Amino acid sequence: MTRILVADPDPRAQQSLEAMLSERGYEFGAANDVQHALEPVHDGQVDLILADLSLPGGGGMELLEKVRAANPGTAVVLLSAFGSVQDAVKAMQMGAADFLGKPFAKDQVMLAVDRALEKTALQRENQELKIALDDRLRLDNVIGSDPRMQAIFKTVQAVADTRTTVLITGESGTGKTLLARALHQLSDRKAGPFVEVNCGALPESLLESELFGHIKGSFTGAVRDKLGKFEAASGGTIFLDEIGTSTPAFQIKLLRVLQDRLIERVGDTNTVSVDVRIVLATNKDLEKAVVDGEFREDLFYRINVVSVEMPPLRQRPLDIQPLAQHFLHRFNQEHGRSVEAFTDGAIAALIQAPWPGNVRQLENAVERAVVLCHGTAIDRNDLPATMTEPSGAVGMPASAPNVGPPLPLKEALVEPEKRIIEQALTFCDGNRERAATLLAINRSTLFHKLKKLGIR
Ligand SMILES: Nc1ncnc2c1ncn2[C@@H]1O[C@H](COP(=O)(O)OP(=O)(O)OP(=O)(O)O)[C@@H](O)[C@H]1O
Ligand SMILES: [Mg+2]
Repeated sequence: MTRILVADPDPRAQQSLEAMLSERGYEFGAANDVQHALEPVHDGQVDLILADLSLPGGGGMELLEKVRAANPGTAVVLLSAFGSVQDAVKAMQMGAADFLGKPFAKDQVMLAVDRALEKTALQRENQELKIALDDRLRLDNVIGSDPRMQAIFKTVQAVADTRTTVLITGESGTGKTLLARALHQLSDRKAGPFVEVNCGALPESLLESELFGHIKGSFTGAVRDKLGKFEAASGGTIFLDEIGTSTPAFQIKLLRVLQDRLIERVGDTNTVSVDVRIVLATNKDLEKAVVDGEFREDLFYRINVVSVEMPPLRQRPLDIQPLAQHFLHRFNQEHGRSVEAFTDGAIAALIQAPWPGNVRQLENAVERAVVLCHGTAIDRNDLPATMTEPSGAVGMPASAPNVGPPLPLKEALVEPEKRIIEQALTFCDGNRERAATLLAINRSTLFHKLKKLGIR
């Protein structure tokens, strides 16, 4: 409940303010001097103080100063029968929410109270957001504040120190390889090796010896012993990329390793046990591949222990701006440039682009822009023209199916509307006024929509 304190020695002022405020359901308190007004402030029990400028015990200005120091979350509105313009200016400079002349009209007081409370509520909200930001999960170099990314970080952190097999799925360029590396870095195996194998690229003839090694003379060309990737990764992590395009022969071999963590070098009759954490990635839908007979079902169940699905970039517009900033910083360093920022127009274009190539495409677009940009900020014109090519409705997936019966228009527009409003809020750092301006709707319409769409 909102608590308002009236710090005014005049009983008539107290009474009329109490009448106005309790009508609105605010909790009301009164104090006759500075000291008594400060007590509940220190206890954090007051949202707003209406204080007379000539309050006994130091005056309204002194109270204002002390309240600002003790609890900046409490708003102060000053009242005065004799206040000058200079007083008003000074009060506002010192952080008063408003300055009203006496006698005051009810409307005037209520307007000042509403404004002051709205401002403190916003401040509090910002504060809470800041704290939430600081509490966010982070993985080194992996940007992601979108809730789905946060959930992924949580999973990764939870399993990092185990030897559990992790399967990472997602479209190309969504960060699967990056996440696999981050998982390794986070684990207690980080001092061990991280070995990458592109399973789709290995020709069948080389496969076995690449993965498991061979001993000298085991086949023509095996002139010396060769350590396989599994053994090379011992004590660390082996990252089997593009598992979805691996051959049936590979799949059988892999199944064996997964079952008993034993390998056999080509030409050797002994088995060797390997201590590796296995991480796999694919941009294919493995379940479908199983149904289509392209991927072994038994292997699928073996590797699908902990699985993580990287969302496409177009489904996490909140991450676009932080990613762009991250790349800007990196490419400035790499190319010895000092481009400082993106213009608002560039950011808007980035947020609206469909990103079929996901984060990799964004990374390339920023790199190109850093190199091409002549000024201190990257503008829309510095971005590749192809990036902004329309791909259906704004913000819709490039591959959004447009066959079959459509949804009722109202229903179909809910998701895009929500996404666009969230984009606007992110773009304006949560400032609803600016977001409304950006969206060319008035503020009350925005508030109404936020409520209706369940946006924070
Ligand atoms: N969340 C992120 N934060 C920072 N950089 C990212 C993020 N996601 C991806 N990147 C960068 O984008 C590029 C593409 O990512 P990555 O290679 O991991 O994608 P991928 O899913 O493995 O793609 P592919 O399927 O083609 O192998 C990399 O340079 C990576 O560093
Ligand atoms: Mg990759």
